[in-house]
Amino acid sequence: MNGIRTVVAGVGSYLPDRIVTNAEMARMVDTSDEWIVERTGINQRHIAADGEYTSDLAIAAGKRAIEDAGIDAGDIDMVIVATATPDETFPATAVKVQAGLGITQGAAFDIQAVCSGFVYGFSVADNLIRGGMSKNLLLIGAETFSRILDWEDRTTCVLFGDGAGAVVLRGEQGAGDRGIIASKLRSDGTKHDLLYVDGGPSTTQTTGKLRMRGRDVFKHAVNNLADIVQEVFEGTDLSPSDIDWIVPHQANRRILDATARKLGIAPDKVVVTVQDHGNTSAASVPLALDRAVRDGRIKRGDLVLLEAMGGGFTWGASLVRW
Ligand code: UT7
Repeated sequence: MNGIRTVVAGVGSYLPDRIVTNAEMARMVDTSDEWIVERTGINQRHIAADGEYTSDLAIAAGKRAIEDAGIDAGDIDMVIVATATPDETFPATAVKVQAGLGITQGAAFDIQAVCSGFVYGFSVADNLIRGGMSKNLLLIGAETFSRILDWEDRTTCVLFGDGAGAVVLRGEQGAGDRGIIASKLRSDGTKHDLLYVDGGPSTTQTTGKLRMRGRDVFKHAVNNLADIVQEVFEGTDLSPSDIDWIVPHQANRRILDATARKLGIAPDKVVVTVQDHGNTSAASVPLALDRAVRDGRIKRGDLVLLEAMGGGFTWGASLVRW
């Protein structure tokens, strides 16, 4: 072992200016503020402006995380963007972000694990850093899901929004017990039909629209998340009762509550931001993380659990000592 630990050095996020309330959604499709709030906990979502792309959201969040880390963009040697809504089929959005931030060294690539993308990226980044391939890594979750929604399908269009969140991850020697402790990733490709986008370059040569069997996804989400949280503790001397904060993927308030209940974790330890931006896929974990760090809830020494589940299915969890 080289003694390197991956420490979270900075956090940042960005939401587009335009807010769409539930009342506005009710003017577009047959829904109501009451239904959306009761079934999902969502009050509003942010929607990117015309000409505002996933890379723009990512760059804005990335800049804030770099500033928070107290370093310059030139210190970043790796950029990973987790997204299911890239600007283009290729090149990777991460490469555009790298250029947009003025970074000319190192490497940049995207991760595609839909809503679990940030948690997947967290684990990949940790391994790159501990393996000595990166010292200062910028990991961003960024999405413009508004572009892949069927705005006539009330069962999906009310749920999602646009946004971005970022962290700077730094390799440190002698970090003590600070940093990423453990990660666990899973996927199950047999569940494809429950949540997917019905288009793509190799199939339809179109972008496609999001399709979801929400009730089925809900059931799998609660079980998969509770299982992976138990698994991430295996091989550590910690248990779920040691958690100070859970920062979950923000899909549905009821999933967050049900998962915490299943794990026996107090609801006031769960960071909830879904009410303000809906489901922003890979951006939701770092958006929630940024909120809880900035408002002083997450403090140095706290044990923080990140978890997410999404299309694929993919799911994962990471444990980090702040
Ligand atoms: O981020 C990736 C992972 N995704 C998720 O985690 C999403 C998981 N699923 C969910 O969050 C929930 O299943 C939903 C919020 C999508 C739906 O909530 P639900 O309690 O499972 O509702 P349901 O699908 O069972 O639908 C209940 C009723 C249906 O009407 P009937 O069949 O009972 O007459 C729907 O047609 O609600 C109806 N409905 C709506 N009504 C008003 C569905 N969407 C709407 C709507 N407004 N927007």
